[in-house]
Amino acid sequence: MATERTLSIIKPDAVAKNAIGEIISRFEKAGLKVVAAKMLHLSEEQAGGFYAEHKERPFFKDLVGFMTSGPVVVQVLEGEDAIAKNRDLMGATNPKEAAPGTIRADFAETIDANAVHGSDSPASAEREVAYFFSADEICPR
Ligand code: PPS
Repeated sequence: MATERTLSIIKPDAVAKNAIGEIISRFEKAGLKVVAAKMLHLSEEQAGGFYAEHKERPFFKDLVGFMTSGPVVVQVLEGEDAIAKNRDLMGATNPKEAAPGTIRADFAETIDANAVHGSDSPASAEREVAYFFSADEICPR
C-alpha cells in the first residue's frame, strides 16, 4: 500500500459543536498523521472554487452557503492508503446512511451539514491539497 496524502475539512457544523479535537483524534488513532492544518472562514469565492465541479448541481448554492457559515479546519492527512482510510472513518455522505461509529454517524445529522469532507481520489487529493496549502506549509514527519 502506498503512502498518500488527502485533504480533510472539518466543516462549520462540527467546529460549532466543539468537535475538532475528537475528530482529529480519530484520524490519529487510525494511523493518519496531520502534516498541515489551518482554521479558515471561507469566502463565497473560496468555497465556490473548491466545489466548482458541483456548480451545476441543485444543492450548489446551499453547499456554498453552509461552507461559508462559520469557520472550518482544513488539514492534510498523510499515511498508508490515506484517501480510502479517511473516507472509511468519515462514513457515507448522508449521515442517515453512515455506518455506526463513523464520524458522520456520530457528529452529523443532515446531508447538507455532514461534519467532514475528504478527497475522493488521488487526483482530487492533489488538487484539493494544493487549493489550500503551499508546499512550504506541509510538514512531512
Ligand atoms: S458526488 O456526486 O458523489 O460527487 O456528490 P456527493 O458526494 O453526493 O456530494 C458532493 C458534496 O455536496 C454535498 N451535498 C449537499 N450539500 C447540500 N445539500 C445537499 N442536498 C447536498 N447533497 C450533497 C455533500 O456533502 C458533498 O460534500 P463534500 O464536502 O464533498 O463531502
